[in-house]
Amino acid sequence: MAKRPLILAVDVGTTKVSALVGEAHPEGELTVLGVAATPVVGMRRGLVFEVERVALAIRDAVNRANSMAGTDLNQAAVAVNGDHLAIVPGQARVNIKTGTVRPEDVEHATHKAAQVSLDGDRETVQVIRRGLAVDGFRGVVDPVGMVAHEMDAEVFVVTGLATVIRNIRRVATMAGLNPVLLIPAPRASADAVLADDEKQIGVVHLDVGGGTTGITVYRGGHIQYLGVVPIGGESVTSDLSVGLGVVGTQAERLKLEYAAVGSEREGTLEVRAVSGQSVKEIPVKELEEIVRARIDEWASMVESHLSRIEWPKGPAAGVVMTGGGSLLKGLSSFLQTRWGWPVRPGVPIGLAGLSDLSKSPGYSVVVGVARDSRLFGLRPEADSPWRKLAQLWFTLWS
Ligand SMILES: Nc1ncnc2c1ncn2[C@@H]1O[C@H](COP(=O)(O)OP(=O)(O)OP(=O)(O)O)[C@@H](O)[C@H]1O
Ligand SMILES: [Mg+2]
Repeated sequence: MAKRPLILAVDVGTTKVSALVGEAHPEGELTVLGVAATPVVGMRRGLVFEVERVALAIRDAVNRANSMAGTDLNQAAVAVNGDHLAIVPGQARVNIKTGTVRPEDVEHATHKAAQVSLDGDRETVQVIRRGLAVDGFRGVVDPVGMVAHEMDAEVFVVTGLATVIRNIRRVATMAGLNPVLLIPAPRASADAVLADDEKQIGVVHLDVGGGTTGITVYRGGHIQYLGVVPIGGESVTSDLSVGLGVVGTQAERLKLEYAAVGSEREGTLEVRAVSGQSVKEIPVKELEEIVRARIDEWASMVESHLSRIEWPKGPAAGVVMTGGGSLLKGLSSFLQTRWGWPVRPGVPIGLAGLSDLSKSPGYSVVVGVARDSRLFGLRPEADSPWRKLAQLWFTLWS
């Protein structure tokens, strides 16, 4: 019997590590066979700060996802996150020596386009193919077999700081994994939830996590922008902790239960003070002002990324949000009013199997990593030719 194309995807988030074992279907669906998340300490703003603790959390999440699926996979596709991620355009032209485009011409053109100059401390995380032109005709989807003199390739190269990437590989290896594929977290999350027609007409995707907010913009069917803001839901919690004088767990609870952006409620809340058992009263207005100040700052930072995109009318399909931080009450309507674009929650599409958990907002990255790696043909077999290629650079129609 042929081996099923099973995939192990891992997302090392700021607050939790999630792992997913899935079965890829040729038509693009993903059946989730195992999924687990383990809380993690030792990550900050999407970056690894304490390797051993993070490795332990990875091992735990992977073990549980594997045992749920009845598998023992260790070859994994792993998400890379953090505000060091950046996107650089590249392009190249190649001659078609045989007069007919062959698959190797497409690979050659793409590879050449991906040779963008990078600062010494940066490396390529992923190469995303944006478009091909054959003898000047742009927008050719599959040029193989076409008669041509030359072909142009346009790519976006997602780059990141080499030390950060080395540390992600290192923790994955310490956890017993073979991290054969690295995928930028914001893009994975966007691919998990966005429909093709949204990508076509223009859409902003925000993955609001604990320590980061990933920003991905699609238009014309292709990725146009990718960036990360180093702020997520944890900043709201720590502001509440400092501002109201309560411990972190208390602040988190207040955030989950009461905090809302722009609700303008009155009244007071009773909470336990940091020191001792004394109970203090907190005006709801004060709590909301703290949340609002942080969300205002966060929104301005997102806007400074979005202002780099040239579009006269904004994203026709609006804004799609994922990540646990996107659950903050009132956030969608706050953004809708501020930006004038529709805002909706993103739910992973094309999922079967244990899809309930994987549909929650904090799992879109791990689902997207599995979906994207499926397109690279990541398999349990150790020496797939893809694997070797994947270790060098990765292309994907976006
Ligand atoms: N109902 C909720 N209301 C407000 N915030 C929430 C809610 N549920 C979860 N969060 C927040 O979501 C954040 C965690 O989100 P998520 O799991 O997407 O982060 P992560 O992937 O670990 O982090 P990152 O993507 O930044 O590396 C936490 O700050 C948590 O407080
Ligand atoms: Mg995340």
